[in-house]
Amino acid sequence: RCRSLPGKDGYDLVVVANRLPVDFSVGPAGDLAWQRSPGGLVTALEPVMRAAQGAWVGWSGAPDLAHEPFDAEGMRLVPVTLSADEIERYYEGFSNDTLWPLYHDVIAPPTYHRQWWDAYRRVNQRFADAAAEQAAQGATVWVHDYQLQLVPRMLRDQRPDLRIGFFDHIPFPPVELFGQLPWRRQIVDGLLGADVIGFQRNGDAANFVRAVRRLTDYATRGPVITMPDAEGRPGRHVRAQAFPISIDSRRFDELARTPEVQNRAKEIRADLGNPETVYLGVDRLDYTKGIRHRIKAYGELLEDGRLDVTRATLVQVASPSRENVGAYQDLREHVEILVGRVNGEFGELGHSAIHYLHHSYPPEEMAALYLAADVMLVTALRDGMNLVAKEYVAARSDERGVLVLSEFTGAADELSPGPLLVNPHDIDGMKDIIVAAATMDPKEQRRRMRRLRRKIMTDDVAKWSESFLSVLSAVQPPASAEPRG
Ligand code: G6P
Repeated sequence: RCRSLPGKDGYDLVVVANRLPVDFSVGPAGDLAWQRSPGGLVTALEPVMRAAQGAWVGWSGAPDLAHEPFDAEGMRLVPVTLSADEIERYYEGFSNDTLWPLYHDVIAPPTYHRQWWDAYRRVNQRFADAAAEQAAQGATVWVHDYQLQLVPRMLRDQRPDLRIGFFDHIPFPPVELFGQLPWRRQIVDGLLGADVIGFQRNGDAANFVRAVRRLTDYATRGPVITMPDAEGRPGRHVRAQAFPISIDSRRFDELARTPEVQNRAKEIRADLGNPETVYLGVDRLDYTKGIRHRIKAYGELLEDGRLDVTRATLVQVASPSRENVGAYQDLREHVEILVGRVNGEFGELGHSAIHYLHHSYPPEEMAALYLAADVMLVTALRDGMNLVAKEYVAARSDERGVLVLSEFTGAADELSPGPLLVNPHDIDGMKDIIVAAATMDPKEQRRRMRRLRRKIMTDDVAKWSESFLSVLSAVQPPASAEPRG
């Protein structure tokens, strides 16, 4: 098959994601500039995009920004415009105040608004139209995440010639929770427009297949769902399967070996007063991450005298996220009150209990923080995967450091044994593990870290995208699809 020329017949690989892999900024003269954003997905897909003449359809992150498609980072970038009202209803509303909490075990109560649903449908259609316009005959389109679950169906309706993949980066909830959604059937049908639906864990794929069985009368067999054709006979197969995502492990490993990063790690420890134990938490400021549970446990350990503020400290990076959504505003308030209380009560001059940083940092600084940390605390209440856990391991070529990892992360399914697993709801259990992590024998640390590194250095993000795309490419193109034009 010939490779299509850009701008002529379209692109052979089209990625559709809520966000473009670049951040836009307006220059002093009102001109628009862009910068590559540090996301993992773009790192994963860049090589395949370059090789396949790829296009990436996504939102710029700003309201009302209309921009022609342009070439950058070896691919075509196709901006989708969202109005301020659509950002409120589709992004902040339906995506992040309905689906996000619903898919994360209703840790926060989901809000169901019909106008938000209308906007979600309308915006999904816009993404689907843009992708249909870019895709070459018989192209592969890979749609990403919960913001765009209707796109596979919308795309198939317009372009039956395409191979369509979908990857859900977050958990897929049990049908007992998913069933709350007034538009549950439309979401399932939207996803079933794909040929392959990828999930982080086997459990997520199984939840989806159960939802299909409960909410439709399509036949399922193991991971395969058979869609009826126009006459109601068995037609196309859809495969729902786990493809656990990873990171660019080598890049983190190499970064953490550079003298700059190593020196910076020493400097960070010195700035913290060279305590015996540096605990580290790194999260988007999100209620799914268990930040409050972690701080509660940490504060109680100081109170009990099992941790000493002159000998241990907790660095908590909480990067700003979704700041217009009420649940995130409430969370910030609660976390900051809690941090203030613990620091006020247990801090001493020159010894803060918690160093709380409401910022995001570039990868170099993150790698230095990972190297500076004796214990990494990942205590999410629910998390599709958790890439921070993987980054910590990739940075630790010294085979030191202990990963404390919540059972409720996709990473726990993949990485055990190796991390110290915790149930973040069990504050007493978590306290014991936080203490045990700091006193773990270096030999035991090395044994666990080696095992973790063997896994993470081999199963990197390139392998993830290759395995998804190879399952997708094995799908038979639909026989009925007529060439366009
Ligand atoms: C999660 C989601 C992504 C999302 C990211 C940041 O990882 O799975 O789809 O892009 O959070 O959230 P934001 O709302 O800022 O895009």
